[in-house]
Amino acid sequence: MAAKVRSRFVCQNCGSSYAQWLGQCTQCKEWNTLVEEIVDRVEEKRGAPASVKSRNPKPIAISEIPAQDGPRIPLSDGELSRVLGGGLVPGSMVLLGGEPGIGKSTLLLQTALRNPHLKTLYVSGEESEHQVKMRAERLEATRPNGRTNEGNGCFVLTETNTQNIFKHIEALQPGLVVIDSVQTLHTAVLDASPGSVGQVRECTAELMRFAKTTGIPMVLIGHITKDGFIAGPKVLEHMVDCVLQFEGDRDHAYRLLRPLKNRFGSTNELGIYEMQGSGLAEVEDPSQVLLGRREERPSGVVVAATMEGMRPLLIEVQALVSSAVYGTPQRSSTGFDLRRLNMLLAVMEKRCGFRLGQKDVFLNLAGGFRVEEPAIDLAVVCAVLSSNADIAVPMDACFAGEVGLTGEIRPVTRTEQRIAEAAKLGFARIFVPKGTKGIAPVKGIQVVQVGQVNEVLGHLFG
Ligand code: TYD
Ligand code: MG
Repeated sequence: MAAKVRSRFVCQNCGSSYAQWLGQCTQCKEWNTLVEEIVDRVEEKRGAPASVKSRNPKPIAISEIPAQDGPRIPLSDGELSRVLGGGLVPGSMVLLGGEPGIGKSTLLLQTALRNPHLKTLYVSGEESEHQVKMRAERLEATRPNGRTNEGNGCFVLTETNTQNIFKHIEALQPGLVVIDSVQTLHTAVLDASPGSVGQVRECTAELMRFAKTTGIPMVLIGHITKDGFIAGPKVLEHMVDCVLQFEGDRDHAYRLLRPLKNRFGSTNELGIYEMQGSGLAEVEDPSQVLLGRREERPSGVVVAATMEGMRPLLIEVQALVSSAVYGTPQRSSTGFDLRRLNMLLAVMEKRCGFRLGQKDVFLNLAGGFRVEEPAIDLAVVCAVLSSNADIAVPMDACFAGEVGLTGEIRPVTRTEQRIAEAAKLGFARIFVPKGTKGIAPVKGIQVVQVGQVNEVLGHLFG
């Protein structure tokens, strides 16, 4: 075991340092801001293996630096590859964050199992070898093609001490290391308990140096605290190369993999998975799955042409409007911002003359998705008005447009992509904001440009 190094407690708010931990910083009076940090940074005592020579960088003219994007390690999982920007970059460090139970371990274990060309060390501090094995069996047993010996490149290690983990990595020489999870790790150079800010940060720093010097890519799993931060300290996000967030509604099968930061690719990508009995299945054509096969759409159900990152996504918006039974009308919304719904209701009331003030309004997006994009507004308005009048919106129509406070329909991004997706799925009409420029005609679909909510109503309900 490495010798203890000197450490001190530093206030994360004002930077004052103390010899021992205190609940409150006596300088700035903030509570719970003291974090243990190492004072003397002796490289050898820390995680980096002695065999790794430190590089000695010299200034180099930018024109002399080779421009090529280094080689990437391809992964069998198309969604994960794409979200990473086209495969794993050697020596990179990826942080996968998400709420407990969302499927982080499942995603990475199945990646380890299904890429036999990539020797993977799966370090688990949360589950025993047996538990990991059981999960692997579940993932493999139920696969449609029933391939069995795919897990040959996957090694499991139940260890939480970073120095020991490095020894095993040096001996095994894997092509990928997965750490499940960063909150269980501890380094011998700090006394703090695993999961504390100081430990999580120091362990990540050690792993980062190890990844950079050996060229072995690492994926860290990090739990998200209630306020949405990965592992509490935001600082982790600055250290790693790539932060992926795994999200979704646990009661629904769909999961979204969103890059929050990516030094090697775009953060506009989005991966969509469906949680099945055999693990996470890639959803290649999400619109198709989300719209389902309907013979007819009842009143209050409208299709919105939205964008999730760079991908067009057609999604069903469902509204139910009914007379309020109790005094105060209820407004509830799933997957769409409630304040925005209230604003749209006010616009419909004031600009279009609909009496919605005494009505209960419920809104729901299919599949447990959350859409933040304003282009869904028009579909929300149409769904509410369709339910209110109890008249179904024609099956062949879909909508994209932001609705402003005067009932005007405002331009949205990437209209062409939305139109193309709608045409692909067999829609005959798409309503887009008036004044959208440069729309090339697409075969089979009529593009209707509308400037005001009232105009749309004229088209739909006559
Ligand atoms: P898990 O990967 O353990 O979540 P995390 O590591 O993010 O905490 O995933 C947990 C859920 O996924 C669990 O409730 C069971 C479910 N699951 C399936 O539905 N199918 C499967 O094949 C597997 C392995 C898990
Ligand atoms: Mg887990």
